Amino acid sequence: MTVTVEQSGDIARVTIDNPPVHAISHAVREGLVAAIARTEAMDVVAVVLRTAGKTFVAGADVREFNAPPQPPHLPGVVTALESVTKPWVAALHGAALGGGLELALGCHYRVALHSARMGLPEVLLGLIPGAGGTVRLPRLVGAHQALSMATSGRHVPATEALETGLIDHLVDADLDAAAEQFARACAAQPLPLSVLQRPLPAWDANGFEAEAEKVARRARGQLSPVAAADAVRRAMTLPPEEALAAERSAFLTLKDDPQSKALRHIFFAERAAGKSWLTLDTAPAPHRHIGVVGGGNMGAGIAAACLLAGLKVTLVERDATSAAAGRKRVEKILQGSLNRGRLSPEDHPRVLSNFQSADVFGALAPCDLVIEAVFEDLDVKAEVFERLDAVTRPDAVLATNTSYLDIDAIAASVREPSRVIGLHFFSPAHVMKLLELVLPAKASAQAIATGVALGKRLGKVTVPAKVCDGFIGNRILAAYRREAEQMLEDGALPQDVDGALKAFGFPMGVFEVQDLSGLDIAWAMRKRRYAEDPEGTPRAPIADALCEQGRFGRKAERGWYNYAAGRADTDADVTALIERHSASKGIRRRAIPPEEIIARLINVMQVEGQAILDEGIAATAGDIDVVMVNGYGFPRWRGGPMFMVDAARAGTSTR
Ligand code: COA
Repeated sequence: MTVTVEQSGDIARVTIDNPPVHAISHAVREGLVAAIARTEAMDVVAVVLRTAGKTFVAGADVREFNAPPQPPHLPGVVTALESVTKPWVAALHGAALGGGLELALGCHYRVALHSARMGLPEVLLGLIPGAGGTVRLPRLVGAHQALSMATSGRHVPATEALETGLIDHLVDADLDAAAEQFARACAAQPLPLSVLQRPLPAWDANGFEAEAEKVARRARGQLSPVAAADAVRRAMTLPPEEALAAERSAFLTLKDDPQSKALRHIFFAERAAGKSWLTLDTAPAPHRHIGVVGGGNMGAGIAAACLLAGLKVTLVERDATSAAAGRKRVEKILQGSLNRGRLSPEDHPRVLSNFQSADVFGALAPCDLVIEAVFEDLDVKAEVFERLDAVTRPDAVLATNTSYLDIDAIAASVREPSRVIGLHFFSPAHVMKLLELVLPAKASAQAIATGVALGKRLGKVTVPAKVCDGFIGNRILAAYRREAEQMLEDGALPQDVDGALKAFGFPMGVFEVQDLSGLDIAWAMRKRRYAEDPEGTPRAPIADALCEQGRFGRKAERGWYNYAAGRADTDADVTALIERHSASKGIRRRAIPPEEIIARLINVMQVEGQAILDEGIAATAGDIDVVMVNGYGFPRWRGGPMFMVDAARAGTSTR
């Protein structure tokens, strides 16, 4: 039974039990309708709505969204809750999200455990609440807070929920007993108005519109945040029944929109990432004390990510000056986290005390896992691994953060290559969600399991990849960069390509990104490869010419764009250079429309993605989408390049 009713003295307990997250499935809705009728007939004074297990209801069952909704529908269940004759108290713990929060809003009262979080995350799945969330919520918390919650999907901590009026009572422990006690006290009072009948709090309509405009700007083409703002506005301006009907209709339209299908795809793809390859029955090795070799931006970011996750970190650099610089970088990141409220003032000293820096490899002797993040050169890395082999515990896992080098060759420089894996972080490593877990041929199951466990501990989405040049993400990036440069030869300018990518939903264009990260590193790598394999290495003549002029990107104030005025301006010299290049190859330049730019770039991503699948570098097409969305700015609401292949076949592409 997914919903059970039992009597506890003069209180009825209605328990939803649909693990893992008690999603509201058809069976749960049917069970709730029956429970409402049953508790009305029982000899009790009040009802507590609770869940078994570790969380309250985390939302509607999204897996049911691909089929037409089956009655009873959730809006009807919530309305039925509001018409009962006894007080209902929702007992919230873990996450009360989406339809779960809507159920709680149908109850007369809400009691929560301190650790509980509440939210309306539908927007993140391309939806808006469909069972009155946007209409009831502002009646409790006001228009501004409702707008913020419904358009961002953020999870509100229980303390904030109490302050804003979303919940009525907060408890530290023994939620069941506290909720029953609270319910009994409520039963002695007259039944309050349902949330829907409560008067709307005063609101600042102009302030609301200013916020709603910001939401629309940030949405960059995604429909649901704008629809959520519209729904809250309707709640504030229309009679509740009309606002409810309009909310439901918008929900049903969005549910069938390609954007929501794309977002649901990526939601489940992230949760499935790697499951087909990473058999998780092997226990990980300990990974409490992490060593990091290299204190540059990447090494410092990795160290900070580990520290912020509560781990102990020893950072090693080649000399005292570099170690001090690396230490400063880590401390700066931690200070930034403190300033932004991601690290509490109480935790800050403890996190700092978990951090050591050193200029001798011997300091890594006690580490459980060491991550190398030094200069991207095979010889340099191989030497680091030889030194690690000499100083680390034989059971310590050794990881390289290389973004394209042959990890099998790196692993060959230690006596026991089975303890070597690749952990490819993305910069800034303490922010970016993606982690490519690269699996060299000889890696042991335990070393791999340790990489998985570390990714989980750091809150990353971990995607496994086999060894090849660039693994999944950088290999696809290299392919579409080549295509982008080809389009420059054919007639486009950097701003045309970047403009088309941003209009498509990327936060930055491919040339702007290169300017930001610096053109010199890729140039150095290309020069090495031109020397090693003059015939086989694809050329990047325009980028090479820019670098020859010292146009290394933002840090040089000049790259694909000109930054002299503190912003990315188009540069006549770059235009002239590109035009000269086309002329030297006898190409008649033509304007390339944005649709063609996007079609060519996406096609290249899909072709390379398919090759990666065919060669067994990635486990699934969904894994490739997860990499592109979480590491390369591919618009989430388009589902990823591989999802777009299927959507195009089905005729359901995102607009
Ligand atoms: N419907 C169906 N399945 C859901 C679900 C939902 N609303 N929410 C979570 N699940 C599933 C996940 O797919 C996963 O399944 P799996 O174990 O087969 O991979 C399982 O529940 C656990 O979810 P996971 O995200 O891995 O657990 P977590 O503890 O890290 O996070 C939540 C829990 C609830 C915070 C997170 O799952 C979440 O944000 N869910 C979506 C909530 C939502 O958007 N609700 C509104 C729906 S309209």
